[in-house]
Formats: sequence, structure tokens, C-alpha cells
Amino acid sequence: MHDADSLAAVLRYHERTKHQFHRYARSAGKLDWVNQPNPFRRYEGAPLTELPILGADEEPLSPRYGDLYRHKAVPSAPLTVRSLSRLFEYALALSAWKLSDGTRWALRSNPSSGNLHPTEGYLLIGALTGLADAPGLYHYAPREHCLERRASGSADWFAQLMRAFPAQAFLVGLSSIHWREAWKYGERAFRYCQHDVGHAVGTLRIAAATLGWSAVVMHGLADEVIEDLLGLNRSEDFAGAEHEEPELVMLVWPSYSAGQWRGGAPRALPLVLDQLLAHELAKQSWHGTANRLSRDDPLTWTVIDEVALASRKPISERYGMDLIDAPASAHETAAAPDGPSAGGIIRQRRSLLACDGRTSITVERFYGMLARVMPRVEREANRRTMPWDAMAWEPRIHLALFVHRVDGLEPGLYVLARDPAKVDKLKRAMRKRFEWSTPPACPADLPLRVLEVGDARKLATQVSCYQDIAGDGVFSLGMVAEYRDALFTHGPWFYRLLFWEAGVIGQVLYLEAEAAGIAATGIGCFFDDPVHQVFGFDDLEFQSLYHFTVGGPVRDNRLTTLAPYGVQVR
Ligand SMILES: Cc1cc2nc3c(=O)[nH]c(=O)nc-3n(C[C@H](O)[C@H](O)[C@H](O)COP(=O)(O)O)c2cc1C
Repeated sequence: MHDADSLAAVLRYHERTKHQFHRYARSAGKLDWVNQPNPFRRYEGAPLTELPILGADEEPLSPRYGDLYRHKAVPSAPLTVRSLSRLFEYALALSAWKLSDGTRWALRSNPSSGNLHPTEGYLLIGALTGLADAPGLYHYAPREHCLERRASGSADWFAQLMRAFPAQAFLVGLSSIHWREAWKYGERAFRYCQHDVGHAVGTLRIAAATLGWSAVVMHGLADEVIEDLLGLNRSEDFAGAEHEEPELVMLVWPSYSAGQWRGGAPRALPLVLDQLLAHELAKQSWHGTANRLSRDDPLTWTVIDEVALASRKPISERYGMDLIDAPASAHETAAAPDGPSAGGIIRQRRSLLACDGRTSITVERFYGMLARVMPRVEREANRRTMPWDAMAWEPRIHLALFVHRVDGLEPGLYVLARDPAKVDKLKRAMRKRFEWSTPPACPADLPLRVLEVGDARKLATQVSCYQDIAGDGVFSLGMVAEYRDALFTHGPWFYRLLFWEAGVIGQVLYLEAEAAGIAATGIGCFFDDPVHQVFGFDDLEFQSLYHFTVGGPVRDNRLTTLAPYGVQVR
């Protein structure tokens, strides 16, 4: 049984933070620039290890973008400080500095609502040459591309903690500083923090794939365990500093083969850690104190504190992930030998600020992009395609699309069921008058349906808080969650996971757009219930959690772009 009060609190938060045509979700109403939170957390006094700043032509070299999606096409890189540096570069590092009118701001590999970057990254890893001769917990400092050593553990302890995993496996943790988003967006900020975590799961999983590595969210872990492991409950280290909320821990490993496990490879990977062992780290000596991010204390947003508490995972559960090493599947087409490099696509990713209202893509490209967001739960192979193998839960998010400029496809409303078994469920919940026909030349295994043809540009713009980018592009979409079922089946903690899944979809589409020579933007600002009305969702069975647009970008030539780490290496 789930805690009914927590579930009610989550449902209440979601309703309360909907944007309506006549009323936006509550926020401070004006920006308090003096208290704008510092986007860079540091632990003052913690020993620092600089990660090497690697040029695009330095080892480890990037594979072709298309190879990321081909099973075993990327050989597993050895675990070294250089490969770790690449992992963090592609996942959480700065990707550029922008300059305009004397103001400078940093952009990162992971996108973030309002570029406010509430997500912090941590690393728990064994002894590694160039890093330390004992296992340790580190905080990742993106401005410096450094690791700050927060705590050390013994080799025995780490071996015990990680005994169920491959020899070189390590953990990456994520937390959120709600205040960074709440400073600008008020009550709706908790949602944006969760989207951003989802994008970071995407960047981490994809960064791991560039190294031939695997990664999975350990969604069996209770939040208390994550807090212990990342040291987020060390009140003495956070005195006067803004709180960090535990989000998740990902297991990352350089590849798996039977020989890397003691006693041979298990058939399933546990997605939990031993709570008592995790707690052992809390008893070690710790370094550093968290910096304060704003001059004044953060404004209190009670509903954010409530939903954060209500959506915590209260106990660890023994979820597992299948490890059957299946052969490559028919869906994995050969990458073009001259296709773009994955690293190049990752580094160049930028949110579009305006669409040109002209650019179109071919229908084949469109279907190809949609195929990439399909989790492809291949029942006989028991393996999902990257990056969907990072989330070992049943996919719960589907796409409600506004198609504007796809050559060979009529403009209009479409739906993509990311789980083919859910087409009927969507059909029952959506407008009765919708067509439900299969669009021309649509691949048989892509559950895309035409709902209604017609010009949806104005509608898309209207429901996305009147943002032109939703109507002027190639297509935009709402990510529609099986909201009620997911929350009632799993519990209120699953609220966060729905946003994470949506964030990963967004990350895949960002890169797909870049690879197609266009661009994309996440859209957190949309009118919730008006979107539901467009598609005919009239209760809580489905809820749209995130919008997204893809189109031909209009570049802003007033902005100067500078290299992320001072030297023009990228
Ligand atoms: C969850 C999320 C919501 C966003 N919402 C909007 C939005 O409503 N409108 C918009 O123009 N950009 C939106 N963005 C784009 C961000 O402003 C952008 O990611 C940020 O400025 C950083 O720039 P970059 O993506 O080029 O690194 C959103 C991004 C994310 C990740």
C-alpha cells in the first residue's frame, strides 16, 4: 500500500502547478537579481582533482553518432581518468560561454530549464590511477571540470558495496537544488528540476555509450540511501548553504562479459545497494563545506517542500535489470561510415531560440527520429535499445504530436504510442472523432497514428504558452504520461520517474535534431489542461508533462561564443 497522504500531496501539487490560460502557476512575479543563485556549487576545502581537458582529436576518440544506436558497435574504452573526463564532458560539463552586452553565461552539455542548472553530479568510484589510491566520493564541478573529493572509503568496503556488479562498475549520483529553479519559476520549479534530472540521465547514458559503456538508473534505491551515499544529509557541511535533494544513482560499467563477474555473470543486475554498507560512508571523514549560492536565504515554497517529501522513495525495493546479452536486432541499421561524430553532435547541441518557419524534413527522417525514442522492448531478446536500457521500468510516456512541416506527411495531430501495447488505451482516452489511420509509408513497427489532419501551427503555439517556437518548427509535441496508472501502481515516488523518462526523450530528440542539421528546444511552459482538451484527455489517466519542439533554427548573431575552458580545443 502506498501512503495515501503522500499520493494526495503529489496529485495536489500537480494540479496546483498547472498553467491555465487565465492563470500561470504561482511564482515570485519578478526576478530578484540580487539573489540570483550561483549556478556553480563548490565544496570549499575539499581536495581537487582536475580532469584533463580533451580535444576532439584526442583519445578516447568519439565514435560515429549512428554507432551509438548499434548494439556493440562501440568498443568498450578502458576505465581511466581520461575516459571519466569524457563521460563528464559529454554529460554535465560546460559546452560554451556566451557573451552579449558585457554579460557572460555558461552553457552545458545538459540542457536546463531557464539555463538555471539545478542538477548536481557526484561520482563514487574505486581506486583509479590519476585520481586516488582509495575509493572515494566526489562532487563534479563543471566550471573547472574538476572532481572535489568529499569522502574516502576502504577498498574492502567498496568491494562489498559493489559485489553484485562488474569489476570496474562505479556510481554516478544526481541531486537537485530546488532553489535555483524556484528563484525564477516559483511553484512549478519542482517539475523543471525533475525534467533536468531526466535530461542528465540522458546525457550520462549517451556519454557512456560513446565509450562503449552501459548505465542504468538504480530505481530500487530509497532516497535516504542516496542521501547517505552522496553526503546530502550532512547538515554540518551545508550550514548556511542551500539544500540539495537526492534524486538518483546510476550504475555505470565499462561493458559486461561473464569473466568480469566473480562466479560468472548473473542473469539480472540488482538495482539496489545494501543500506547498511551505504551508511558506512557517512561514518568516514569528510572534506569540504557547500558554498552559499544566494545572498539571502531562499524564499520558502512550501508546496515544493511538500511534493519533494511526498515523492521520496521511502524504502529500497529489489528491482532488477535483465542482463541477457542478446544479438543485434533488425532495428539497428548500419551507421553511415561518414556520419557525424557523436562527440561533435553532443558539443554542438543548442536550444533553438526561434524557428525560421520554413525548414522541413523528409518523412523518412521524421520516422527515423521517432524510431529513436521507441524503447523497443524486444520481448525475445530481453534488451532495450540505448538509452532506454537506462530506465528499467515499463515505458509510461507517449507523444502527442503537432506536425507542421514534414515532406510527405499531411500537417495535423498525430500520436506515437511508445509502447505498441498501449495504442488501444490511448484510443479509448482520446477524442472519439480522431481518425486513428496509419500514415503513409510508416514502418510497421512504429505505432504512429494520424488523429486529425489540418494546420496545427496556431494551436501548438497557443498551448505552449504562446511560444512561437512550437508552431514555427517542423513539429512540436506533448509528452503524455500514463499518469494515474503509474502513480497508483508504483506509488507517489514514481511522479519523479515520469519526468525523468520525459527528459530522456527530450535529450534523444535534441541530438536527433542536431544530427538532422536542425535544432530543438525543451518547452516546460505549456497550458496543461488546454493541451489535454486538444487531445480529448478528460481525466487524470493521461497528463502531458513536457513539451518539445524541433525546427530550423534562427541563429542569434548578437551572441559571441567562447570556448568552455579557455582554450579553443573544441
Ligand atoms: C526542462 C526544460 C524546459 C525548458 N523550457 C523552455 C521553454 O518553455 N521555452 C524556451 O524557449 N526554452 C526552454 N528550455 C530551453 C532552455 O532555456 C535551454 O536549455 C537553456 O537556456 C540552456 O541552453 P542550451 O539548451 O542551448 O544549453 C527548456 C529546457 C529544459 C531542459
